[in-house]
Amino acid sequence: MKCLHAASEVAGFAKTGGLADVVGSLPAALANRGIDCAVVMPLYRACRSASVPPTPTEHRFRLPIGERMFEGRLWRSTLPDTDVPIYFIEQPDFFDRDDAEQGRGIYQFTTSAGQRQDYDDNSTRYGFFARAVLEMIRLTNFWPDILHLHDWPTGLTPAYLREVYQRHGKPALRGSYAAIRTVFTIHNLAYQGAFPPDDLPALGLPWNLFTYDKLESYGALNYLKSGLVFADLLTTVSPMYAKEIQTPEHGCGLQGVLKLRATQMHGIVNGIDGNIWNPATDPALTGNYDVNTVGQGKPKCKAALQALFKLEVSPRTPLLGMVSRLASQKGFDLVEQVIPDYLRRGVQLALLGDGDKGYRDMLLRLREQFPTQVGLHLDYSEAIAHQIEAGADIFLMPSRYEPCGLNQLYSLKYGTIPVVHTTGGLADTVIDATSESIAMCRATGFAFDTYKAAAFDEALRRAVQTYRDSPLLWKQIQETGMKQDWSWSRSAGEYERLYRQLLQEL
Ligand code: ADP
Ligand code: GLC
Repeated sequence: MKCLHAASEVAGFAKTGGLADVVGSLPAALANRGIDCAVVMPLYRACRSASVPPTPTEHRFRLPIGERMFEGRLWRSTLPDTDVPIYFIEQPDFFDRDDAEQGRGIYQFTTSAGQRQDYDDNSTRYGFFARAVLEMIRLTNFWPDILHLHDWPTGLTPAYLREVYQRHGKPALRGSYAAIRTVFTIHNLAYQGAFPPDDLPALGLPWNLFTYDKLESYGALNYLKSGLVFADLLTTVSPMYAKEIQTPEHGCGLQGVLKLRATQMHGIVNGIDGNIWNPATDPALTGNYDVNTVGQGKPKCKAALQALFKLEVSPRTPLLGMVSRLASQKGFDLVEQVIPDYLRRGVQLALLGDGDKGYRDMLLRLREQFPTQVGLHLDYSEAIAHQIEAGADIFLMPSRYEPCGLNQLYSLKYGTIPVVHTTGGLADTVIDATSESIAMCRATGFAFDTYKAAAFDEALRRAVQTYRDSPLLWKQIQETGMKQDWSWSRSAGEYERLYRQLLQEL
């Protein structure tokens, strides 16, 4: 079986969140099961400084956007520490513009007022990419049985495949394109790629696709909806989120189409890449440890983290950690309401995050108010993300919603007990410490059901109290979490089963 993954970010080359982690690891886990995998993403500037930098190939192609022809070229590398090939779509006008120093990311830039704003040509950038994926298949002669697409930047690919390549493509290739089956994974329904309808003709798609049952949603051209409508099979990143998004509360306006396709929708929890996230081997840590040596290794990581964040180095002070995009999804309004009280009572906070200016300003005010207790790194740093996972005692994830969440899985593995809102993947992966779950040795964290400050406060209070007053119970919860198997091999098996099912339906 051959499988091609297409996404707008891949760990090791360009990353803003968990999507990159998934597409950086899942293909290798599938390859370990004997599936012939490849990956394709845009060639951003950041990709050039990867550990195995991409090199140019001879494959070039041209695609029209509006009146203009845009030239593309394929580059190639391999996923870090694997043989899985990854192809890059070079198109300098669209993708060679990111520059961290200048506040220019892969999707957004920073305005002079310090706000993050989407590039105004994202519709053509990702329209081009979505179509270039199908050109890449032809040029490399890598004809996948399964074309696995991730999130809105690849949402137009199944529309191009069905409406352009399978119908009007070169006659000799139509049959090969017709044999491809598509899987579309929703990593986050809130990001839809909704653009003005007038962009449609420039993308080479006919107006008759702009209807409520195809690409139109609330008057906009909606890339995510295109994926939901045109892909053969849909998945999302946890069973709970698969259910939630069919309701008006979490459906982000697309609950109707999701309900229609409910029988083709599957929830599969993400995995952890053990080569990157393993406290026993993690090169970013001051002390490595596993479940048997957590008592020796973790204190070293905690002391190093306190020093790094200029907090008092104090072994028994509860240290809260957070690593997050600064976005409304992540529960910063609850953090703002609840955390000051804990800081007043001596607790410390180490936070790494990048994103919305409003949350940056809120966090800077918090540090001003509690300068000796709040440590902030308001930028992007892979090493510090690992150091917080290892050094903190308690990991905060009070997300308003969370399709899967990887950070709580990393913190479980690193013995850092998560405090989570019971939503999406957080509900599927963290077991609240109740008297029953504790008695059965199943508890792995502290959870709250209602998205309210009082509920978050109650869960966090239980966590801090347990840390301070019940070290043996703390150790039990920590060890239960560290022993969970959230490896990719489990999730990859579920994807393989779905792929095979889909191919049997041929
Ligand atoms: P999401 O994809 O919604 O951001 P996840 O929990 O699935 O949430 O994944 C977040 C990923 O991004 C994790 O690998 C986390 O370590 C990483 N991450 C988030 N913010 C930062 C940051 N500022 N610096 C480094 N890594 C970050
Ligand atoms: C998204 C979600 C996150 C998920 C990640 C990878 O960014 O917000 O919950 O873990 O994708 O699937």
